[in-house]
Amino acid sequence: MTYKVAIITLSDNGSQGLRQDLSGPKIKDIMTSQGFEVVSTHILSDDPLQLKELLIDICDNKKAQLILTTGGTGFSKRDNTPEATLEVIERNVPGIAEAMRMKSLSITPRAMLSRGVSGIRKDTLIINLPGSPKAAEENLQVILPVLTHGLNILSGNEVECAVRK
Ligand code: MTE
Repeated sequence: MTYKVAIITLSDNGSQGLRQDLSGPKIKDIMTSQGFEVVSTHILSDDPLQLKELLIDICDNKKAQLILTTGGTGFSKRDNTPEATLEVIERNVPGIAEAMRMKSLSITPRAMLSRGVSGIRKDTLIINLPGSPKAAEENLQVILPVLTHGLNILSGNEVECAVRK
């Protein structure tokens, strides 16, 4: 099963063409090399309403089984990604965000400054990654080993966790 992924970059500057988006393309490369199908990439401002609308559209119209956001998870007044995500998810998946922060803390103490969350809406898993290409990649590497198993369970392609790793 090839899972479809949508990638959303949150950046006021990026959305106005004032800064090149390096994180979105980096995530796209990684996910493609891992066998995922990247169906869409988006660059939005940090406006939470726009993000909410896009998340709902992708989930409710079954456009992707996975949404990776990058950016907007920090302390700036315009960092709204976790709040927008929490408003659309139906089920929280705290372990993903916990694992990303835990592993990232061994790389930099600044990892504790990311407020990223993860959760499920309908048949789609949404994961917030931090904004810099380095941080996005480091966080993604933490979850890649378990992502397909989680998506298999979510989509009903695997019914039990018989083989534990
Ligand atoms: N996580 C990892 N693995 N590596 C990093 O360099 N940077 C941190 C944190 N998480 C970082 C990281 C920093 S400096 C910030 S401010 C937060 O992510 C939030 O980033 P964002 O506002 O770009 O989403």
